[in-house]
Amino acid sequence: MELNPVGKTSQWVAGLRSMESAKPEGQRRLFDPFAEKFTTEETIKHFDAIEKILPTATAHFVDCIVQRHLTFDAVVTQYANIIPQVVIAGCGGDSRSRRLSVPRECTFFELDQSEVLAFRERVFPAADPQNGPRIRPVAVDFRQSDWTQQLLTAGFRADLPSVWIMEGLLPYLSPSQQAFFISQVTTLCPSGSVMAGDYNAGLPQLQALTKHFPQLRALMEHFQPRELKVSGLDYPENLFILLGWPQVSCTEMEGAMLASEQLLQLYRQMPRSPPPAITDAHRELFAGYLSHLKDPGPDTFLVKETLPHALQEVLWAPKLPPELAERVFEEGKPEDVAVNDPTLISNTLPRWTFFTAFRQEKPPQEAAESAVPGSGGGR
Ligand SMILES: C[S@@+](CC[C@H](N)C(=O)[O-])C[C@H]1O[C@@H](n2cnc3c(N)ncnc32)[C@H](O)[C@@H]1O
Repeated sequence: MELNPVGKTSQWVAGLRSMESAKPEGQRRLFDPFAEKFTTEETIKHFDAIEKILPTATAHFVDCIVQRHLTFDAVVTQYANIIPQVVIAGCGGDSRSRRLSVPRECTFFELDQSEVLAFRERVFPAADPQNGPRIRPVAVDFRQSDWTQQLLTAGFRADLPSVWIMEGLLPYLSPSQQAFFISQVTTLCPSGSVMAGDYNAGLPQLQALTKHFPQLRALMEHFQPRELKVSGLDYPENLFILLGWPQVSCTEMEGAMLASEQLLQLYRQMPRSPPPAITDAHRELFAGYLSHLKDPGPDTFLVKETLPHALQEVLWAPKLPPELAERVFEEGKPEDVAVNDPTLISNTLPRWTFFTAFRQEKPPQEAAESAVPGSGGGR
């Protein structure tokens, strides 16, 4: 069955994981035997074409995607022992329910578009109910508001904590869809819940870079065909804080800067600027925004038109104007720009951020420990 463009991205990332898994033992960081099953002829052709554009690109993408996958493997392994509901949102070819060692009492809810789940069912062997956790596939479209009902019908308990993984999903929702989707997730997550995922920031800047790096342009066209819109967020911490997730930790990957060593060096010298503080006024504005947002529907990519300016300021960083951004990308770090505005340069660089958000005030480990049945807290 032919998947739509966003569905096919799940085959691309599985293809990259299968390349890592094919390396000899001792040389690989991840072994995912299911990744190959999720890889199609078309996926292989896709990477062959990329290899022709930039021979180092595929190996670079393998590294990024493996690093991302291991990051979320660690979240699942750490929390599935104490929080027995795991939701893999936009699961694609994610095989954690079969691959990781988690308690049998755990239930994995695997959510994706119906076509992706149908492909998954065809290529993955049946799960072993005797030895593994329970697995519940749930066909959804996160751009529609009814997916929460489908999850509840599949047996998800909104009165118990849960672990949510959103790996490579959020860029395919517009900012308003993201805000609406995460607000819906929040209604399903009592204190003790954990949510992890990733965001790309500075994608428009990456587009601007393509002017100077023809190989990057060819790669972007390959990876991001016109029908595949993507969006990012500079300060995911603040979105979660506004939505009632008081503890958020973010780490970064250098993955966006694949075009040149010069840019990579610039990136290393320029750390991400800390997110602006959230005030009660921001919370009030955001509550008003959400109440008007309702269901943004499939085609909304308009958040900046409806989001009050004060909120835009805490979610998106100010960036260099395009002419100056071009000079930065062209000249590395032009001294006059660097001296005048190092933060603006740093904001202008594309970034790839992993977040883990906790729906409680306590430090995560302490909260996780108090969520263990019999320890007197949490559930
Ligand atoms: C890049 S893939 C990542 C798949 C998987 N998380 C992984 O890392 O292997 C993005 C996935 O999100 C799913 N997705 C994107 N938008 C979606 C939506 N609106 N509703 C349901 N699934 C969606 C796609 O179908 C696809 O499987």
